[in-house]
Amino acid sequence: MADSSQEKPAEEKVEENAVSPPQPPPPPAKEMKTIVLTGFGGLKMVKVQKKPEVTPTEGEVLIRVKACGLNFLDLMVRQGVMDNPPKTPVVMGFECSGEVEGLGENTAGFNVGDRVIGFVNFCAWAELVAVPAHLVFKMPDNMSFQDGAALPMNYLAAYIMLFDIGGLRKGQSVFVHSTGGGVGHAVTQLCKTLENVTLFGTASYHKHEALKGTVNHLFDHVVDYSQEIRKVSPEGVDIFLDSVCGEDANKGIALLRPMGKYILYGSSSVVTGETKSFFSFAKSWWQVDKISPIKLFDENKVIAGFQLRQLLFKQGQHEYIRSIMDKLFMFYNQGKIRPMIDSAWAFEDVGEAMQKLHDRKNIGKVILDPSLQPKPKAAAPPETVRTDSISEDQAKEKEQGTGE
Ligand SMILES: NC(=O)c1ccc[n+]([C@@H]2O[C@H](COP(=O)([O-])OP(=O)(O)OC[C@H]3O[C@@H](n4cnc5c(N)ncnc54)[C@H](OP(=O)(O)O)[C@@H]3O)[C@@H](O)[C@H]2O)c1
Repeated sequence: MADSSQEKPAEEKVEENAVSPPQPPPPPAKEMKTIVLTGFGGLKMVKVQKKPEVTPTEGEVLIRVKACGLNFLDLMVRQGVMDNPPKTPVVMGFECSGEVEGLGENTAGFNVGDRVIGFVNFCAWAELVAVPAHLVFKMPDNMSFQDGAALPMNYLAAYIMLFDIGGLRKGQSVFVHSTGGGVGHAVTQLCKTLENVTLFGTASYHKHEALKGTVNHLFDHVVDYSQEIRKVSPEGVDIFLDSVCGEDANKGIALLRPMGKYILYGSSSVVTGETKSFFSFAKSWWQVDKISPIKLFDENKVIAGFQLRQLLFKQGQHEYIRSIMDKLFMFYNQGKIRPMIDSAWAFEDVGEAMQKLHDRKNIGKVILDPSLQPKPKAAAPPETVRTDSISEDQAKEKEQGTGE
């Protein structure tokens, strides 16, 4: 067989043998800090990890995250006690606020530098998040990033349940669990946008002083609130908002006045400790009475359910959600609603932040802020922790002399 290299012209041979100069190594991929759920279980399954920075694809907005909301739902995700749990490992988080840092192709309506709120089906707890533009909302100018992260899930849920499902009118009565929590505060404030609404609610006893004057009739979550409500209002309530489920579902339906509405929006009774309890999970469902539509027909009662994640990520109701966000921004600008921030935590302290919810100690919303430094390990007890982390928002307020 002929050797083909021998047939090549001399110049070509020289080129082939030339040694190309050494190429510089590609720049290392830029990394971002994220909070990752490494598997379902206790607090130790949640870890801060570096991951390559995300880039926005078509129709997406890249957000430089300033604050993230921590919800009760995140505890349930961590334990794996939610519908359609995600595959792990997964970056956690559903809501954040921040500044637009980039735009994917064909992404209209936003500019770099816009201050925005974003919803994502996981991945919000990161320094950078790419969010489809239809789930991004421009924040009012006077809204802080912490308020921006605290508002969406809690106030959307509260607004939709009270006004769109519940049809709340002036003079009516509402019951809600955990009035000191994120949704609880939102319900309390939104009820006050109508005249003469009577609010019944529960909260752990140690929160009662802080909640004084916000709820008409407040009970500890361990007392028989049905009996107490009947003493004040023998007919019951017009709207019962149930985030506990289990036995509380039966109590709620029984407490409805004629034409009253019971709305299930959570099942916190399945969370009884740091890890999943199969017993409480099953109990929460088997305790709920089976209700026939014929009984509802006889009693003039309505039973409803509400699940914001489904509406946002599965049922495509973005336009509807945007219309409610506009109303919430209007209320915010009018000073009618203002999220109460319990505390802000560095990503590295997410375990302690979650523990605060487990311990029922939060009064208002718990925020994660990627700009905060973690607390030194031998730190003060949780009660003193709330004030020692200063976020960008708070620093700005101090600078401008607007902070407390
Ligand atoms: N369906 C939806 O679209 C939707 C949207 C947002 C939230 N939610 C639901 O609304 C509820 C409130 O959510 P959130 O994010 O605003 O949280 P949150 O109320 O701030 O959650 C923490 C508080 O929940 C109370 N709690 C009730 N059961 C608990 C338990 N088993 N373990 C520890 N704490 C318990 C505690 O307050 P007290 O001790 O004072 O009661 C605790 O301080 C949750 O059930 C959540 O899943 C539903």
